[in-house]
Amino acid sequence: MNLLFTPFTLAGKELKNRFVFTPTTTSFATDNAEVTAKLADYYRQRAEGGVGTVIMEPGVVDPRGKLTPQSMGIFTEESVAALGGITKICKDNGVAVFIQLAHSGPRGRAAFLGEMPVSPSAIPFFKDEPVYELSKEDIGHVVESFVTAAVRAKQAGYDGVELHAAHGYLLSSFLSPIMNRRTDEYGGSNANRAKIVVDILKGIREKLGNDLILGVRFNGKEYGDQGLDTADAIELAGIFEAAGADVLHVSALEVEVPSLVGVAAIPATSAPGKDHQHGSFLDYARQVKKTVKIPVIAVGKLNHPEVAVPAKVNGDCDLVGLGRSLIADPNWPNKVKQGLLPDQCIYCNSCFKGIARGGLICAVNKELKAK
Ligand SMILES: Cc1cc2nc3c(=O)[nH]c(=O)nc-3n(C[C@H](O)[C@H](O)[C@H](O)COP(=O)(O)O)c2cc1C
Repeated sequence: MNLLFTPFTLAGKELKNRFVFTPTTTSFATDNAEVTAKLADYYRQRAEGGVGTVIMEPGVVDPRGKLTPQSMGIFTEESVAALGGITKICKDNGVAVFIQLAHSGPRGRAAFLGEMPVSPSAIPFFKDEPVYELSKEDIGHVVESFVTAAVRAKQAGYDGVELHAAHGYLLSSFLSPIMNRRTDEYGGSNANRAKIVVDILKGIREKLGNDLILGVRFNGKEYGDQGLDTADAIELAGIFEAAGADVLHVSALEVEVPSLVGVAAIPATSAPGKDHQHGSFLDYARQVKKTVKIPVIAVGKLNHPEVAVPAKVNGDCDLVGLGRSLIADPNWPNKVKQGLLPDQCIYCNSCFKGIARGGLICAVNKELKAK
């Protein structure tokens, strides 16, 4: 594992090691999407735990794009100061800090949005949740909201932003041949389905030049024969690279969740469970990595030396994403570096239940135990 504690330069920024805390929604913000002391402390613990890069959970770019009732937001001027407090904590610990920019799209719920969730086409994600199909004018507003959020991220001191174009949320639904059935320039070919992401990347570059590192997180494969496959993901990767992305984060939406079968159009999640192998998404990153020049982050049960170390040695990815390992034990990198055994995630996925019900919980981490 110590091979992974070597520095890496990403778009001119030196990262102290190869480990990246991948964005994980906590639902620790207020109902008005504001940062709380609990949320800031959660990131302080992870920044102190030895990880090289933190990609913070989604800052939603619009109140109508909340992922959960207590999603954190970056859609007001007031959010900049509180988020700046967190970026300072990360920087004081020598940790590079990104924020994921997100809009829930069809994965939102009218119950907490106060209005219908939106989507590229009138195809619901949840079978009981009708969605509003965005007009071209609406899409222009969505692009603007992402660009404005990136400007706020820069003001708050982030090294970079990651566009959340994975897991069935709004940008991901545009990329998906299942969810996007548009016949205008935003639908059809991979290039058309990627247009909204390309418009956002270019819009941010126009405003900020190279002052902010730009990442895109997307699915290397999504569940179902009609969904996006790895050949699509490879083509999309080239499109994002050409549009100015500095780093690609290859995730997937292909782990079937029994509780979503019959409920969701794509009954899948992004987090491999107990029965899934370590590194089960690594091949998607490997395939993307072969075709692009920019660095690639891989994710998905990569906390095992027999998977993570060969990934580095073979050059399958540049950076190793850790999600639940750092929920379970914020000191995971420091402990591994010292040859100590961290508290390990048991892949029960109770964390997901927590974020839907008012706050992240963890069966392993005592500080995050269910009350
Ligand atoms: C509770 C929880 C919340 C998550 N929230 C997000 C999110 O907001 N955005 C995102 O891109 N991925 C999210 N993920 C996915 C993780 O970033 C990561 O890709 C996934 O957990 C697989 O990595 P791991 O095996 O290291 O946990 C979430 C995962 C969990 C467990």
